[in-house]
Amino acid sequence: MVPLSRRELIVGGGGLLAVAAARRAGAQEPPAVPAEAPTLPAVLSTWSHGGPANEAAWAVLAAGGSALDAVEAGVRVSEADPKVRSVGYGGLPNEEGVVQLDACIMRGSDRNAGAVAGLERVKHPISVARRVMEKTRHLLLVGDGARRFAVAQGFPEEDLLTPESKATWEKWKAEQAAKSGGGAPGKEPPDAHDTIGMVAVDARGDVAAACTTSGLAWKLPGRVGDSPLVGHGLYADSRVGGAASTGVGEEVIRVCGSFVVVEEMRRGRTPQEACEEACRRILERTAGKPAGQVAFIALRKDGVTGAACLREGFVYHLRTAAGNPQRPGTVVRG
Ligand code: GLY
Repeated sequence: MVPLSRRELIVGGGGLLAVAAARRAGAQEPPAVPAEAPTLPAVLSTWSHGGPANEAAWAVLAAGGSALDAVEAGVRVSEADPKVRSVGYGGLPNEEGVVQLDACIMRGSDRNAGAVAGLERVKHPISVARRVMEKTRHLLLVGDGARRFAVAQGFPEEDLLTPESKATWEKWKAEQAAKSGGGAPGKEPPDAHDTIGMVAVDARGDVAAACTTSGLAWKLPGRVGDSPLVGHGLYADSRVGGAASTGVGEEVIRVCGSFVVVEEMRRGRTPQEACEEACRRILERTAGKPAGQVAFIALRKDGVTGAACLREGFVYHLRTAAGNPQRPGTVVRG
């Protein structure tokens, strides 16, 4: 075993145990152990665009609002940002050039949820998902039914394909046409997995999670990923905590990724250990050759966090009263 570094030796008892456990469990890098004690409320989200999203969620939490309101407000920031090319407005389209959005929101107090999949022409699928939860007896609406429900609820219809995303799609189409044998349906660029997943715990101790995405770029029309599926793209249980995923949704769905993370925490594993366990299940199933990046984040009801991923490059943001730092996820190699 590699000797523990000086930094690892000074993080303190609990952190030191977590580092040692992660090393025994096969994580390549030691987990990012926060130096500060966990505090509530807290909100955790995926990728660098989680930073501004967290600030919107934090404004709700700091004012005494609910975790549910916070995660909805938070991920709406990414949905509205055309520079975020994997979520909402400006998201990269399917292989036919149509933006199809997936989203889910989950309330940990009663484990109720709402979701939409394959939603077209509505900028804020997370808010439509919340209406599904609150205004219907259903959980998941798809395709044109989801769009008609959104319109009936007063959501405006608009073109979600920005000129930049249209140009990227046209370039891909031209490249595919130039290749002998035609196109490669569903093949996505390597940077196209930037779903925002968010988990929050409010001052009352309630947990909520949200997940929203335009899915894999160039996907087959009608393809649904993990993001709108309870237990896959996200899970929240106020008795335990919450989790969310990002990356290749098919890999997450096959292992019920976010449910695994929360259930492992329920069994007593730390959020970090739980995220690494979900990663290991993907690595085991794929014999170490997953279809691409996958990452999990977890926030326990007491504010302790975890984050793990299959490849380098995944970052996440944690917003508490102490700030909104960006941290790298721990890469799990098997
Ligand atoms: N994780 C997003 C997707 O696969 O659609």
